[in-house]
Amino acid sequence: MIIAIDGPSGAGKSTLGKMLAKEFGLLYLDTGAMYRAAALAVLRAGISPEDREKVARIAQNAKIELVGEPDSMRVLLDGDDVTSEIRTPEAATAASVVSAISEVRKIMVEHQRAIGENAENGCVLEGRDIGSVVFPNADIKFFLTAKPEARARRRFAEDQAKGRSTSYEQTLDEINKRDERDVSRSDSPLTIPQNAAVIDTSELELADVFDLMLVKIRALSKASAQK
Ligand code: DC
Repeated sequence: MIIAIDGPSGAGKSTLGKMLAKEFGLLYLDTGAMYRAAALAVLRAGISPEDREKVARIAQNAKIELVGEPDSMRVLLDGDDVTSEIRTPEAATAASVVSAISEVRKIMVEHQRAIGENAENGCVLEGRDIGSVVFPNADIKFFLTAKPEARARRRFAEDQAKGRSTSYEQTLDEINKRDERDVSRSDSPLTIPQNAAVIDTSELELADVFDLMLVKIRALSKASAQK
C-alpha cells in the first residue's frame, strides 16, 4: 500500500504520516528531509543554492539515507548524522531553492520511487508532489492544508519547545515565503493531486484529523476488496 500525503509546510503531514505508518506497519518517508539534506550538502560545499549545474552535481553525488523508526528517524548525509542541522531556517530556505531545480527533483523522485517500491509492506510518503508526480497511482492520496496563521502558530510552538529563538511574525513570514516558492515553481508546484482527499486542519485537533484519515483509508480498502 502506498499512501501519499501532500500539502504546505506546517499542515501536520509529518506527525500524521508517522502515525499512519505506525498504525499500518508501513515505511515512512519524509521527502522534505531529502531535499533539506541535499540543500545542506550544497551549503557545506560553499556553493550557491541558485547555481543549477553545480547543485545538480552535488545532489547526484550526495548519499542521503533515512534510517530508523518513524519517531526516531535519523537523516544521514554521506554517513554524517544531519538530523538536527537540516531543520535550521538556513537549511529550510536553501531546500526551497534547490527543490525548484528540475535536475534535483529528477534525482530525488527516482530515489523516492525506489524506496517506496521496495518497501516490504508499503510506504507512507509525505511531501509536495507525491500524489501528483512520485506516485500518481498511490492507493490513497491526502492533501493536508491549513491557514498560514494556524501553521505558523504550530511551527512557532515547536520551535519554542526546541529552544529556538524566533518570533511568531518571523515564522509566519517564512511560511508565506516558502508557500509562495512551493506553489510558483515551474517544475512540480504544490497542487492538490487528482483524487486526493483534502483536509483543512486549521481548526482540528490532531486526533480528529487522524480519525478522518483512518475512515478514508478503511473505506477505500473495503471498496477495493469488494472489486
Ligand atoms: O516538508 P519540508 O518543509 O521539510 O520540505 C523542505 C522543502 O523541500 C520545501 O521548501 C518544499 C520542498 N519539497 C519539495 O519540493 N517536494 C517534496 N516532495 C518535499 C519537499
